Amino acid sequence: MSRTTLISPSILSADFARLGEEIQAIDTAGADMIHVDVMDGHYVPNLTIGPTVLKDLKLYSTKPFDVHLMISPVDPLIAEFAKAGADYLTVHPDAGPHIHRTLQAIRDHGMKPGVALNPATPINVLDHVMDEIDLVLVMGVNPGFGGQSFILSQLEKIRSLSRMTAASGRDIILEVDGGVTPFTARQCREAGANALVAGSAVFKGSGTYAENIAAIRGKSSAQVT
Ligand code: DX5
Ligand code: ZN
Repeated sequence: MSRTTLISPSILSADFARLGEEIQAIDTAGADMIHVDVMDGHYVPNLTIGPTVLKDLKLYSTKPFDVHLMISPVDPLIAEFAKAGADYLTVHPDAGPHIHRTLQAIRDHGMKPGVALNPATPINVLDHVMDEIDLVLVMGVNPGFGGQSFILSQLEKIRSLSRMTAASGRDIILEVDGGVTPFTARQCREAGANALVAGSAVFKGSGTYAENIAAIRGKSSAQVT
């Protein structure tokens, strides 16, 4: 894929008391999408936000909201996330119960469906749903928390998925989430990822938000206007 790598900062590492301002700031700093991690304290051992907050956050950016559901079950909340304005809605196949039905429901509600693969989840769970999805999210860490280190075995998975998405003939975003730093971002890009989620590296990195985003994209901020 020749286009520039999409950067989707995860607001999990933002200041939750100032989420609207933080979203405006990353939008201005060059974010391509806004990554929202939804956790239920059940599928993952952490709790974040739901559709009510998402709806209010949508007022702060017109960029696509890339909503990552770490909840189980998923289906009862699909309509709420559609109403709240989710653009991409990504789900974990093991969150159950029926991934194909869930992906169809996401599409039927006007959103773009994505599938997230945990570090131990094999790529063949996608074999029979490739026509249903617009995004594959490879977890570089086990889901639930920001600030973890990238699990290097996922690079081979990204390479395989890059071949798989290319073979599909469809324009599927191949996104990596978790442990993305300027260093691992390069490895992920070289393995074929065309979108990167980063929480700590954007919000807690050494530079301005614009510099941090540019570094993950593999450019100096001067090259990104
Ligand atoms: C983890 C989340 C990630 C997380 C990434 O469950 O899905 O989006 O915020 O955080 P960093 O970039 O700090 O690893
Ligand atoms: Zn995420």
